Amino acid sequence: MTTRVLTGITTSGTPHLGNYAGAIRPAIQASTQPGVDAFFFLADYHALIKCVDPERVVRSRLEIAATWIAAGLDADRVTFYRQSDIPEIPELCWMLSCVTAKGLMNRAHAYKASVDANVAGGVEPDDGITMGLFSYPVLMAADILMFNAHKVPVGRDQIQHLEMTRDIAQRFNHLYGAGQDLFTLPEVQIDEEVATLPGLDGRKMSKSYNNTIPLFEGGARALNAAISRIVTDSRKPGEPKDAEGSHLYALYQAFATHEASQAFRRELEQGMGWGEAKRALAEKIEAQIGPMRDTYAGLMARPGRIEDILQAGATRARALSRPLMERLREAVGLRQLQAEPAAGGKKARSGGVRARARMVSFRDEDGQFRFRLFAADGTELLLSEPFGDPKELHRLSRQLVDVDLNNLVKEPRGLALQVEGQVLGYCPAERLDDLRVAQADLAAGGA
Ligand code: TRP
Repeated sequence: MTTRVLTGITTSGTPHLGNYAGAIRPAIQASTQPGVDAFFFLADYHALIKCVDPERVVRSRLEIAATWIAAGLDADRVTFYRQSDIPEIPELCWMLSCVTAKGLMNRAHAYKASVDANVAGGVEPDDGITMGLFSYPVLMAADILMFNAHKVPVGRDQIQHLEMTRDIAQRFNHLYGAGQDLFTLPEVQIDEEVATLPGLDGRKMSKSYNNTIPLFEGGARALNAAISRIVTDSRKPGEPKDAEGSHLYALYQAFATHEASQAFRRELEQGMGWGEAKRALAEKIEAQIGPMRDTYAGLMARPGRIEDILQAGATRARALSRPLMERLREAVGLRQLQAEPAAGGKKARSGGVRARARMVSFRDEDGQFRFRLFAADGTELLLSEPFGDPKELHRLSRQLVDVDLNNLVKEPRGLALQVEGQVLGYCPAERLDDLRVAQADLAAGGA
């Protein structure tokens, strides 16, 4: 069983060294672990909440995508996509909004902080607060539930959002699941090992404190210039330094092995000058970042290449979000009218276009490819066996139309549908007539 790990990156800034060590590097590292099916996406709908500058949004999406790829994200392995390329996400967001208690959202830390700031400033409590900010946690829940993520690695400030996601998912499952869970309850993943980097002034490195060290922007020169501005105490070369107490040492540790860090610490304690320490730090960081910088520059110069990668990611993501959305629409009652049983229990087939059987392919929990065959009334006739190769599955599934339904072998699991000597799947014996109709639909090109 694979673990689906999903996380989003809000595209409203330029990645700095703190983002790299605190989020990008550990996420990419996690994505290479066996048994992990990673979904990383650019949360660009979320970016619109904070940023009303279109050029900034354009630029940030590009920079962040290029950064992740340059930092080693393997887009063949990770499903890497943009939130705004998945229309099922805002659709799900609305469905979730309709079962989310407003009172739950009133308790969100980010919203409460804005209200408190307004009250303290003597203005209306909701001054300047948009519905986007208020509903932020519901959109985040949609991001997570859309792909049935098991684990969501985030910073501590996001723990409450994960709790809300679980609340909302439970409520939806209860209302619409009919005994079968539509959504997986995700778990938050807080990595204690991961470094929270201090910025130039020793406070947490953050754009809002204006104390960041750039990652790629400005090249090695900008990196060195920023490092030279790191605040230290006024001890002279030769005087012993308090390594533990210095954020320069904290930065060094995030880019060096344990042994190298210990050696660096001893040298500081034995009087290494701050200037020399800064040079050593710059060298360590450059050794890791330098080799990625060319890739980054190359990607930034060819945005079309990034666009292609993101589009391919969206195609893979939508292979999951589309069939789930079909189930959800079905579950909440947004069904095709033709498929509703008419009064008297007969299928409504007079007038208009008749609903047809449909085949829906998807990737299952284990990363294998399967399809479902639905009868015209939306009920499932067949769940295929898992296949590793989607093309092979597609090729075989197209031959379903030629299977002789009069000679099916009945096995304990149902009627075996065989193509080229392989069982594609089993259909309940009592659904044989529906299967005949479905086969005719497929032959007519209805799927
Ligand atoms: N809110 C997250 C942050 O600011 C970004 C985000 C949006 C996210 N959607 C998500 C993170 C879904 C994890 C899962 O960091």
